[in-house]
Amino acid sequence: MISYTISNGINGTPRIPGDKSISHRSIIIPSISNGICEIKNILKSDDVLHTLKAFKNMGVKIQEKNNILIIYGNGLNSLKKPKSEIYLGNSGTSARLLIGLLSSQNFDTLLTGDASLSKRPMKRISDPLSKMNARINTTNGTLPISIKGNDLSNNKINLKIPSAQIKSGILLASLNTEGETIINENRVTRDHTETMLESFGANLKIVKNDYKKTIKISGKKELNSKNIDVPNDLSSSAFFIVSALINKNSKLLLKDINNNPTRNGIILALKKMGASINILNQRLSNNEKICDIEVKTSNLNGCELGPEMADLMIDEYPILAVAASFASSPSIFRGLTELRVKESDRLNLILINLQSCGVDCKIVDDDLFIFPSKKYEIKKNIIQTDFDHRIAMAFAIMGTKIGPLEIKDSESINTSFPNFKDEINKIGGRLI
Ligand code: S3P
Repeated sequence: MISYTISNGINGTPRIPGDKSISHRSIIIPSISNGICEIKNILKSDDVLHTLKAFKNMGVKIQEKNNILIIYGNGLNSLKKPKSEIYLGNSGTSARLLIGLLSSQNFDTLLTGDASLSKRPMKRISDPLSKMNARINTTNGTLPISIKGNDLSNNKINLKIPSAQIKSGILLASLNTEGETIINENRVTRDHTETMLESFGANLKIVKNDYKKTIKISGKKELNSKNIDVPNDLSSSAFFIVSALINKNSKLLLKDINNNPTRNGIILALKKMGASINILNQRLSNNEKICDIEVKTSNLNGCELGPEMADLMIDEYPILAVAASFASSPSIFRGLTELRVKESDRLNLILINLQSCGVDCKIVDDDLFIFPSKKYEIKKNIIQTDFDHRIAMAFAIMGTKIGPLEIKDSESINTSFPNFKDEINKIGGRLI
């Protein structure tokens, strides 16, 4: 894909797809609950479709009518052994959540993924689960992973890495485990799993104290399905927000966007940089905060963000780094260690691709420094993405300012945002 410079601004109301994290959970949780669940606005991207296929292969009846997904759940122990391995493509969320869920089933499974997912660390989820007696065999800490379904024993788990995927995997394992499992986290991670489990009637007790949170979950309690309306994805919105901020004569309205406080660091960070962003029409949908977002061309300043912000916006650093490249002063984003183990080594790809675009930047101890300038001289106009959707989309937005940039392997964008190119082009972008 090639991203060309635009001249007349970005304007309009693009359609942002459903939230990826909530979409995965909207398949997983109703599939092990009792009753019929109708899901509106689920994200139909490659990652989510892998989760969907996994549950169909485990015998769950799932239909689609008039764009509504219908899941017929039959309870905690209704899943069936799949006929073959479960292939999860590029999806880390599917992998971590399913490893947890499947470790407490009464059948064995084999999980595999694509080249990128097969490099990602899985001991972060198998180690805490093994404290509950889970029997998980990794391949040197990665996929393929074979899981021997087992009766797990409850335990107290202290999360060492701030990760909603790990927390959610343990919660899903605990649902089918006798007694009370206790999960302690010291840093904020997204809370979509707890929110949905609570509304489905799980036996959860949550105590919060600043950044710390303890979740007590008593297993073997059946869940009752509820209909779900998936809000639109703030992480996907971020590419549009930044495109409007950095291009002149731009104004966008983004509707029905997830504004969960465990996820909205990008809004806080961009506002700190002087962005003109208005949060409108705030409301609740399925206990998730949602809003509309109005954003206009802005003169951005640089800013310094500490590691605590990384917890609230880990997926947004590629596009934040693009925004920071057009600010009037330098930025420092600290504590980005986790960026190294996403769909790619994102920290390194941000660095080398910004450098290709002529941006002066450096990494010191997993802190990213960006020294913007008024004009960039492109050094290499081919962007290396290592099949990472968020790197591809972030540098497509960079291209709207300084293009043409050729975005390699841009089909990875289907992982989270299949209509990205069309939506950008509808509002004035030039992606070909
Ligand atoms: C996700 C959690 C995050 C995020 C990922 C989706 C989720 O990962 O990066 O894109 O849906 O739980 P970690 O929780 O491992 O940081």
